Amino acid sequence: MTFDRSVKIAPSILAADFANFGAEIEAVESQGADWIHVDVMDGHFVPNITFGPAMCAAIRPHIKTVMDVHLMIAPVDPYIEAFAEAGADVITAHVEAGPHIHRTLQAIRASGAKAGLALNPGTPVEAAAPVLDLVDLICVMTVNPGFGGQKFIHSCVQKVTELREMIGDRDVHIEVDGGVDPTTAPLVRAAGADVLVAGSAAFKGGSVSNPGPYGENIKAIRAAAG
Ligand code: DX5
Ligand code: ZN
Repeated sequence: MTFDRSVKIAPSILAADFANFGAEIEAVESQGADWIHVDVMDGHFVPNITFGPAMCAAIRPHIKTVMDVHLMIAPVDPYIEAFAEAGADVITAHVEAGPHIHRTLQAIRASGAKAGLALNPGTPVEAAAPVLDLVDLICVMTVNPGFGGQKFIHSCVQKVTELREMIGDRDVHIEVDGGVDPTTAPLVRAAGADVLVAGSAAFKGGSVSNPGPYGENIKAIRAAAG
């Protein structure tokens, strides 16, 4: 993975056909996805359950771009190695998921993956300040994690602006996750985000047998982001 601040659209497979992940990933990548965002939920840290490391390992061969694994689980540390072995390029943990985020980020980097830190809408950006040199990505949640298709929380845009300032010239991606579509993408891009996760807005209207809408959706988000 090389670093740059160009816009990357990361469709979340949370909005894909769960019975057909391999083909969905290939379809969305052929239609212009830059990264593939993989939402892991445990029914404890968030009120929903998706899948774990075995599923990540199974879909890995279908991902030609970047496998961006968003862990909405607590505890995190016991599972880092398994997600790294499953082939994650980026592993993102929530600062709210436990008392030892510094140790967690160190463990992610030690596993060979890039380390991501996610901040819930109610968490101030100051939570990231002590670990800025341990992260490769900061994910600003613009919905409360747990479900796709929720409404974008506008007050989170200011946090992106503040983080961009805090990061300075460090090679740290700013990712935005939740409610990103052509109307909200320009706001977060202008504030300094470079990785835009999109679930429902990326997958709407398309399917494996009709992937054209995936391409139109991705193009519309990218064009709006500018
Ligand atoms: C929410 C997940 C998101 C979600 C985004 O808990 O972390 O990645 O899939 O979905 P949309 O784009 O529909 O808000
Ligand atoms: Zn996510």
